[in-house]
Amino acid sequence: MNVHITEAKRILVANDRGGYTVPTDRLYPFQWNWDSAFVAMGFALYDTNRAYRELERLIEGQWADGMIPHIIFHQPSDTYFPGPNVWRTRHTIPTSGITQPPVFAIALRKVFEAAGNGGQVRALPLYEAALKWHRWWYSARDPEGTGLVALLHPWESGSDNSPAWDIALARVPTTTDTPVIRKDTGHVNASMRPRDEDYSRFIHLVDTYAACGWDPAKQWEKAPFKVAEIQTTAILLKAGEDLEHLAREFGRSEDVEEIAAFNELSRKAILAQWRPGLSRFVSRDLVSGDDVEAATQAGFIPLLSLDLDKDIAGALVDEMRAWSKGLKVTFPTTKPGIASWEPKRYWRGPSWAIINWLLIDGLKRNGHPEAAEELRKSTVTAIEREGFAEYFDPLTGEGCGGLGFSWTAAAYMWLMRSSH
Ligand code: DGY
Repeated sequence: MNVHITEAKRILVANDRGGYTVPTDRLYPFQWNWDSAFVAMGFALYDTNRAYRELERLIEGQWADGMIPHIIFHQPSDTYFPGPNVWRTRHTIPTSGITQPPVFAIALRKVFEAAGNGGQVRALPLYEAALKWHRWWYSARDPEGTGLVALLHPWESGSDNSPAWDIALARVPTTTDTPVIRKDTGHVNASMRPRDEDYSRFIHLVDTYAACGWDPAKQWEKAPFKVAEIQTTAILLKAGEDLEHLAREFGRSEDVEEIAAFNELSRKAILAQWRPGLSRFVSRDLVSGDDVEAATQAGFIPLLSLDLDKDIAGALVDEMRAWSKGLKVTFPTTKPGIASWEPKRYWRGPSWAIINWLLIDGLKRNGHPEAAEELRKSTVTAIEREGFAEYFDPLTGEGCGGLGFSWTAAAYMWLMRSSH
């Protein structure tokens, strides 16, 4: 077996905390929502029992209203801020109060298919949990039925300090009731992390929503940050397609209709966000009513879940090539050279293996296998050279952020799956 696959598997063992996988030791010492979904797809390649377990442990944190929180605090740890005492939520297991990109049903379908039909008994409760979560997205985060779901906190995007939030986040006060005592900069060089000012705003939002008792309607009314987001909606639609597939597989005809209606709504809404002048899709800032025009990876993620017209897919691919020109590792999460581009700082420029994974699937879906293969090669080469880093500097190729990172290990296995 390829030595890197052996190492990827070792990382997943090292990050196991009892049926769930932490993203990396110390920096992220709990179960994270979308990290676990990617990790489950990695496990699906060689241990479907463990893959199911990852998803089962995640839904232990699902709230009665259907939300699956972004962090499940299964066991205490003092290496992370903000911990459960800052979130002040009331689930049986301590959790955060916000959510993360809905990759869950995409993972569930892959795990179910890898496990074979015998897995139906195990897959059904997970399917029910996914459906409940999708219903939550379309009610709590799209109360007006637009088809685009909204984020109330940048952390919900998974792309925490992306330039996409700069305008919307600047309206959020830097005052906090909770003292901001960062731990992340004790583990990773501060120049790679979000700035202190971002953290004040992140925590202001947590305080605001905790004061709403985490009630979705109250939060919606009070939210100083509200962005109908293209990357999340595109992931939700792909997950919705996979959920619809599972509903058919499980003979749930009423669910099929309901899920198909969600999907159709989002499909149309995403298409309406295409901006030919930018050669990208855009999010909408619901506080100002403006398009979010910041040049980030989010604008390309609809490749994943739409069968686009040739012209649109071609324009996206041309734009991706323009951004990638001269880079050692593609695909950059911010357009190189613009004022907000910072090639080492978290979501303000670096290349991330899991984003590449979504884009690779999207490029293949839309008839661009050669562009998909270039991106796949760039990703696996970066990992083989630098190890399983959290992300990569696109200019130098340097592995940055946390090391021994679970989702980079899962992505590597997935992108190399023919060599298993
Ligand atoms: C963090 O703490 O950096 C996380 O990304 C929030 O989920």
